[in-house]
Amino acid sequence: MTFRIAPSILSADFARLGEEVRSVVRAGADLIHFDVMDNHYVPNLTVGPLVCAALKPHAGVPLDVHLMVRPVDRLVPEFAKAGAGIISFHPEASEHVDRTIALIREHGCKAGLVLNPATPLACLDYTLEKLDLVLLMSVNPGFGGQQFIASVLPKIAEVRRRIDSCGKPIWLEVDGGIKPDNIAQAARAGADTFVAGSAIFGAKDYAAVIKDMRARLAAL
Ligand code: DX5
Ligand code: ZN
Repeated sequence: MTFRIAPSILSADFARLGEEVRSVVRAGADLIHFDVMDNHYVPNLTVGPLVCAALKPHAGVPLDVHLMVRPVDRLVPEFAKAGAGIISFHPEASEHVDRTIALIREHGCKAGLVLNPATPLACLDYTLEKLDLVLLMSVNPGFGGQQFIASVLPKIAEVRRRIDSCGKPIWLEVDGGIKPDNIAQAARAGADTFVAGSAIFGAKDYAAVIKDMRARLAAL
């Protein structure tokens, strides 16, 4: 199993974002997780395509754009142009989920669907094989630094079963409250891609945290 670590810049120093992205990539990040919030779908406001485009030359690894915006479609071409590698969205935020998935792929990006802790898996029924990634939220979206919600573990396991039986190399990402202490639990349940904001950017030594996470994954 290939594991990926995706530091979320939501907890980075916004006055020095380019430098923060370079440091965390140097520290071993596989992806840069880019949280887009609109003060409408979620009660917080962050960054848009302009900042994404500005960070792109600093990243050198794929930008993993997590859209917490409603509506979604108008921003898809903008983020594709801004250099996103992956664009994920919440089904509740799109009028036509299948259309949004197609739109993301037409723009040359990998497409992900994001499920909140209480969102049932039914929205994967007719979409899973069209996706490159399923992102399971292990906190309610909107803020960094929240506590991991453990009821998501059996949900990760169920999505892992669905992905394995569909036979496609779909990534299973988990986002929210991931730390060295619980990363192995999430991996054992079936996740392969781990977003971590406060655990990495809240530490002095980013490389040490990422190394610790990788060691725990290697010991599974
Ligand atoms: C929450 C965001 C997360 C957040 C994770 O809405 O989607 O990506 O930054 O931060 P931590 O790791 O601190 O929970
Ligand atoms: Zn996120």
